[in-house]
Amino acid sequence: MSGFEINKILASILVAIIIFVIIGFVGNFIAKINYNESLVKAYKIDLPETSTDSTMQKTTDNEMDESISSLLASASLAKGEKIFNKCGACHNYKKGSKSKIGPNLWDLINRQKASVSGFAYSKALSEYGGKWTFEELDEFLYKPKEYISGTKMIFLGLNNVRDRANLMLWLRQQSDNPIPLP
Ligand code: HEC
Repeated sequence: MSGFEINKILASILVAIIIFVIIGFVGNFIAKINYNESLVKAYKIDLPETSTDSTMQKTTDNEMDESISSLLASASLAKGEKIFNKCGACHNYKKGSKSKIGPNLWDLINRQKASVSGFAYSKALSEYGGKWTFEELDEFLYKPKEYISGTKMIFLGLNNVRDRANLMLWLRQQSDNPIPLP
């Protein structure tokens, strides 16, 4: 075999390799386009499924209600009374007692928000609307300033969900007709 023939063979092998690489490259490129298309398709199919999302949302809401009600069911009045020490500097809780820096909290659960007559509520709280349900009170007491931005209640909040449940159970008791537990 002459050197010339060996060169020819080597050259054809090289060409074959180059073609192979080019085909691979083009193939990859096409596959990528297809891949992108399939992504787009998957996205388009996803859209109508928002309905499933909202049902999932509902289940989590229910779970939250459930956890509040189960926490309240196992909450302690005595512990709640102790936690109220954190509020007592600013709030009275007895029937007919005066408001201090904050409004009187007698009969608070399910009371209309910002409804103690004669108390100068912040604009934020007086315009907030609705009643103090267990759920809303729980969120407010977690981080008052975040729940009602602009409130003039200067209190960092109660981080511990059990503390909040104990306190709410005790607050519920400060009423002539404590509302039924959820
Ligand atoms: C440093 C004083 C201060 C402390 C401590 C404090 N509060 Fe308040 N609270 C206020 C003030 C002031 C308001 C009125 C807020 C407004 O008008 O925005 C208020 C409002 C409220 C309201 C709304 C009442 C209504 O009539 O709508 C609730 C409920 C409440 N506080 C509960 C608590 C609880 C429970 C604690 C203890 C964990 C507590 N607060 C601790 C000052 C305080």
